[in-house]
Amino acid sequence: MLITEEKRSALHGKDLITTQDWNREELDQVLAVASELQRNRYDNRWSRSLLNRTFFMFFYNPSVRTRQSFECAATELSGHAQFLEPKAMRLKTANTAGETIEDAARVMSRYACGIGIRILEDQIGYYGAGDELLREYARWSEVPIVSMAHDKYHPCQGLADIMGIQNHMGDPKGKTLLLYWGHGALARSWCSVQEALLLYPRYGMNVVLAHPEGYDLDPAVVAASRQYAKENGASFQISHDPVECFADVDLVYARNWMSPQAYRNGELQKSEEIQKALAHSEWICDAAKLKRGNDPFFIHPMPVDRGHEVTDEIASGPKSLIIDVAECRLHVQKALLALTMGN
Ligand code: CP
Repeated sequence: MLITEEKRSALHGKDLITTQDWNREELDQVLAVASELQRNRYDNRWSRSLLNRTFFMFFYNPSVRTRQSFECAATELSGHAQFLEPKAMRLKTANTAGETIEDAARVMSRYACGIGIRILEDQIGYYGAGDELLREYARWSEVPIVSMAHDKYHPCQGLADIMGIQNHMGDPKGKTLLLYWGHGALARSWCSVQEALLLYPRYGMNVVLAHPEGYDLDPAVVAASRQYAKENGASFQISHDPVECFADVDLVYARNWMSPQAYRNGELQKSEEIQKALAHSEWICDAAKLKRGNDPFFIHPMPVDRGHEVTDEIASGPKSLIIDVAECRLHVQKALLALTMGN
């Protein structure tokens, strides 16, 4: 799709907290520019989009892909990405005096062209607190706020997933996704799987959501996913069978996620969640189960918990998209920075 000046300016200044806040045409514009940037990475019409501009990356939690791909993205657009951590700032929290989000966001937005924020499971006291923080930044900031993964959503990951899927599977409409809970030792947040659950059916994919009893995701997200499937002529099913759910699927997304009981007394009960999850050892994506599908591709946002969520054989196998999707993070984020913050 050719991105015209008019369309480019329509995205300028827009926050990205979840892909749900953007319409399909806007998401397709990002994907179109991302494809253009993948084909021609260094010498293209976007390469001076962030000239002399700085993107702030504010990390409450660690990262490999997100930090590195955003930093490369800013560099490749002739700009700069600055790494910030809360410990280097004096922010007000529930337990400490300090600067309010209003003041921090208004000041930061006088310096930067955009602000990315990551806040995950162990930095919050209840599910939804990370989303509230991002939306409070967005309320006060004069420049776009981008989620770099927070407790509810991971929009950049969702866009990279769709780009990787389109690159390998073509138009995914009518194909079936299995979103599969894997037992694991990390007690992961719901952000990546919920973003996938919301985004894939908007691209016409049938959804099979499979997890043990007691690992329900956010009911509002599940309801929205079901509705998107209906609107796009796709099906939506929930399964609690770790083997049967693989029947006739085209793509398997295996990932651990924490239970809805993960927070108690304002804290994540991480070790309890891990012990509980590890007891479900039958929940692993392996070659025997994949034989039930249509020679499915394997996708995962990484880092992969090998031996728990998925076997090595599958994660490193010929149908695994994990490295290509990780590469797509760079291209979609370049497109996002150029379209929402570029000159
Ligand atoms: N997928 C993803 O966000 O990876 P990182 O945690 O390494 O950034």
